[in-house]
Amino acid sequence: MEQAIKAVEMLEADALQIHLNVMQELLMPEGDRDFTGYLEHIRQIAEAVPVPVIVKEVGFGMARESIRQLIDAGIRMIDLGGSGGTNFAVIENRRSPQPLAMFEQWGLTTVQSLLEAGTCARPDVYFIASGGIRHGLDACKAIALGASAVGVAGYFLQMVQTQPLDACMEAVELFHHQMKVAMTALGTRRLEELRLRPLTITGETALWAWMRGIDCRPYARRGDEFFGAL
Ligand SMILES: Cc1cc2nc3c(=O)[nH]c(=O)nc-3n(C[C@H](O)[C@H](O)[C@H](O)COP(=O)(O)O)c2cc1C
Repeated sequence: MEQAIKAVEMLEADALQIHLNVMQELLMPEGDRDFTGYLEHIRQIAEAVPVPVIVKEVGFGMARESIRQLIDAGIRMIDLGGSGGTNFAVIENRRSPQPLAMFEQWGLTTVQSLLEAGTCARPDVYFIASGGIRHGLDACKAIALGASAVGVAGYFLQMVQTQPLDACMEAVELFHHQMKVAMTALGTRRLEELRLRPLTITGETALWAWMRGIDCRPYARRGDEFFGAL
């Protein structure tokens, strides 16, 4: 808690972000193996620091059991950090003398995590979607599924390493343009309006959601009021 307060003061930070990376630590040869008191520390930090605290996963996603615990601990911003993009299990296995390849598919995808988060939705809790967001349409889909913001790491990082800075800046512009194309096609002026459009979830994700007791039908039908009013 003292470290958290000091970090915020030193940087005059607007927010503090704590990452959860249990699977990464477990696969890392030099990783932490002791997670005792983790949730309690998060609760204490959230109470003590004067800025918002964001808790994020780093690519293994979050189920509603964890999301609820974080909300109960006072967290109001959660970055779901799902699988489907940068994979820290693969990265750690490449470094490890004893790679555990069977864990490379571990975790929930970003879409699954957003569906889980949807069951815990509250007006004072904000979800950030990250993990495998590669273009503006991905971002729009994440927002339509309930995210307030998206995070992109691997896609831009790879570009920064292989392309000149100008091209990277253009890629950011292009990302925004892709969002505008999707929003115009859907007749939405504001990002929040994406959440009023019907969204059909099919295939393996729908089956998985059903097993978890998450009803995907309201997502597919939520445009009814809007189209009825036309
Ligand atoms: C090289 C690299 C380093 C990262 N370091 C951190 C970190 O220190 N803390 C953290 O919370 N997330 C870290 N992340 C995870 C990202 O913040 C993010 O959750 C994830 O990579 C997003 O998925 P994407 O890369 O598929 O866009 C890192 C990601 C990359 C690619």
